[in-house]
Amino acid sequence: MTTVAVVGLGKIGLPLAAQFAGKGLDVIGCDVMSEVVESINRGRSHILEEPGLDERVKKAVAEGRLKATTDTTAATSKADVVVVIVPLMVAADHTMDYRNIDSATQAVARGLRRGTLIVYETTLPVGTTRQRLGPALAAESGLVAGVDFHLAFSPERIYAGRVFDDLRKYPKIVGGIDAASTDKAVEFYRQVLDAEVWPVANAETAEFTKLAETTYRDVNIALANQLALYGANRDVNVGEAFKAANSQPFSHLHRPSIGVGGHCIPVYPHFLFNADPDLRLPPLARAINEEMGAWAVALATERVGSLQGVPVLVLGVAYRADVREDAFSSAFRLRDELKASGARVYGHDPYFPGEHLESMGFEPYDLASPAQARVAILQAGHAAYRDFDPGKIPGLELFVDGRNALDRATFDRAGIAYVGIGR
Ligand SMILES: NC(=O)c1ccc[n+]([C@@H]2O[C@H](COP(=O)([O-])OP(=O)(O)OC[C@H]3O[C@@H](n4cnc5c(N)ncnc54)[C@H](O)[C@@H]3O)[C@@H](O)[C@H]2O)c1
Repeated sequence: MTTVAVVGLGKIGLPLAAQFAGKGLDVIGCDVMSEVVESINRGRSHILEEPGLDERVKKAVAEGRLKATTDTTAATSKADVVVVIVPLMVAADHTMDYRNIDSATQAVARGLRRGTLIVYETTLPVGTTRQRLGPALAAESGLVAGVDFHLAFSPERIYAGRVFDDLRKYPKIVGGIDAASTDKAVEFYRQVLDAEVWPVANAETAEFTKLAETTYRDVNIALANQLALYGANRDVNVGEAFKAANSQPFSHLHRPSIGVGGHCIPVYPHFLFNADPDLRLPPLARAINEEMGAWAVALATERVGSLQGVPVLVLGVAYRADVREDAFSSAFRLRDELKASGARVYGHDPYFPGEHLESMGFEPYDLASPAQARVAILQAGHAAYRDFDPGKIPGLELFVDGRNALDRATFDRAGIAYVGIGR
């Protein structure tokens, strides 16, 4: 029987632990947070937003296939495979903080036995598995990577909120520090996943795959933004044009938007270009996407005049629709741009209470008893805004639909100017 230790029981790690247990393996989940560990050992998932997770955790714990512990070292000493999925933290200036992954690595190293396979799934800069984590494991354990233990990287590409669907669909990319590590990791993932398992040349290739796919999306959105603004100035129906362009199989234009947020897409391009100033396109794309807040402010100024003292409502501060997550949200860039132009910045988000909005630098706005706002900007296209009634906002002159999510006709009927991105 294979025993797996999963280190980091968060939004991704706990579903992985449940998946492995569901495939009949013995799983020991490891986390530094004792309340997380206790909840799992009671058969309860502390991650509430993942469909199917709670039932899977309950079943795996009841069947004795999943246990949790704060003692990563003891878990590793019993494990044939260790999967590490703790976050690499990134500061607002995009410098990386390796403390979580380094301390998880130390704890694993202290329990490491000969023959164990260690796979890192946390997104990492190219070279980290071989150059930083392998030597750290070796130094603490006294064992030699590639000789005494196997070491591989396999990027986690699934999307929180639909993890179990994605685990069935997305090919699992696997690259070891040597051929034997790749083979071992491929064998492991074939045991625990239904999706195709896809070996690549080495750990660096696997690390790079994740950075390439996320940077591709950022660059694509920057292109979509520029094309949308270009087209909108020339009587183009941009939505139709993109759909038509994408009917050609080589064209995959993404949707334009007021910003790219979250832990991944705006962050991982930095993992590439922080290490190589010769990469010209990814930083340019980042800058273009970051400037969309300034675009909205310039548009508002052009339409309503100076924003000095003007009440402006930002709808949705989350980084994307229908999540309670504000990591690297483009709402913050928009807030700063609005404040710099002198506007009074209101914020509304059904996922964040008033005090939270206040702590983020927005004046909380109550849609049930709306204050005056001359401009409203849709920043996150939450489902709750689908029936947004612009006629209810006193003094509203301009609505900027930063996600092209609402129907222009509603605004036309209310006599309020509507501008989307490229429409
Ligand atoms: N969230 C996503 O949508 C997503 C998607 C794809 C890939 N990823 C990757 O997964 C990683 C983890 O993301 P997440 O959303 O699961 O994070 P998370 O914040 O939900 O959970 C991380 C868990 O790791 C634990 N942890 C921190 N340091 C630890 C240590 N030293 N030892 C043991 N446990 C430790 C934390 O207590 C927490 O429970 C990300 O950094 C990213 O590389 C995330």
